[in-house]
Amino acid sequence: MPHLCTPIIIKNKEIRNRIVMPPMVCFSWAGEDGFVTEKHIRHYEARAKGGTGLIIVEATCINRYGRLSSDQLGIWSDEHIEGLRQISQACHKHGATVLIQIHHAGAKTPRDVAEVALAPSRYPEHTDTDRQVRELSVEEIKAIQQDFLKAAQRAKEAGFDGVELHGAHGYLISQFASAITNKRTDQYGGPLENRMRFALEIIQQLKDNIDKDFIIGYRMGGNEPTLEIGIQIAKILESAGVDLLHVSAGISSPEFPQPQVPEGFPENSIVYCGAQIKNRVSVPVIVVNGIRTPQQAKYLVENELADMVAVGRGHLVDPDWACKAINGSKVKPCLDCKRCLWHSDPDKCPGKN
Ligand SMILES: Cc1cc2nc3c(=O)[nH]c(=O)nc-3n(C[C@H](O)[C@H](O)[C@H](O)COP(=O)(O)O)c2cc1C
Repeated sequence: MPHLCTPIIIKNKEIRNRIVMPPMVCFSWAGEDGFVTEKHIRHYEARAKGGTGLIIVEATCINRYGRLSSDQLGIWSDEHIEGLRQISQACHKHGATVLIQIHHAGAKTPRDVAEVALAPSRYPEHTDTDRQVRELSVEEIKAIQQDFLKAAQRAKEAGFDGVELHGAHGYLISQFASAITNKRTDQYGGPLENRMRFALEIIQQLKDNIDKDFIIGYRMGGNEPTLEIGIQIAKILESAGVDLLHVSAGISSPEFPQPQVPEGFPENSIVYCGAQIKNRVSVPVIVVNGIRTPQQAKYLVENELADMVAVGRGHLVDPDWACKAINGSKVKPCLDCKRCLWHSDPDKCPGKN
């Protein structure tokens, strides 16, 4: 039976335990240029020192025009490599494995980043807002895919053990995968195989152009928009050779609410989707959302409902969350603010202070 402290091997890399710090943007720390700051380095180093097995560095944008905010980290130029290398080195120094999440916001790109947001297609929501959203041409799709490849190559150069493609939470890759937001009629729209083409072509390019030991992770929506389609997506990604799946939320709508959690399952519907997907694929699966206590994490790993567990806000308030969970000491609790203050000013987090 695996335990929280049982190592796991992914692509010849031994990850020292099953605890993951999921990607979380540290809003307000980076400037318009997207460069890493001293705060970022200290932040990730503290969690590596605190015993976390796998750290996934926050959503980092592959091109300037797809940022989710004007203070997001960037990986769109070679000039970003040096700062990012300092993060990977600081994490490796303390024994953590480290990936970086690479990302494009698509239709969710805010106005102060781009006058017109780019998306697989316009969809009904856009008619209710004054946000200008334009459908990508095939030529533009290819250019963005190249930006993902270049970003992954820079991540490799910066010393990361791999990348995680941000394919969840309604950002660009998720917008392609979802039938709610992808209304295209060409080879990138229509049936699921076509909607997944955008991601699959990126994965193939990464596999063809980067060393074989570089981990390719994928954060996906377990409900995209249903669990049944989430399971199909996971199987498609497994066949495409993804090394690690991280199951979070997809795009829901009033027509497709979150899946029902059966009685007796102790966690929420996002974790439930992850556990169901873990049951259907053999590639390692990370589950996430609302996992606050070591007891919750242990239960999921020991009952083989997940290969790894990601603890987000728990890591923000307590850098030593992993060590404490493994040693059986008490972790600092996240105070569950209505809107997590890390979205605006991490220094104001009441749980951390
Ligand atoms: C401040 C903040 C920033 C986040 N940034 C990202 C991100 O960059 N990429 C991503 O996939 N999810 C992001 N998330 C979602 C987390 O990775 C995680 O899925 C979510 O917090 C739920 O897990 P938790 O209940 O353990 O915190 C963010 C969450 C928070 C609170």
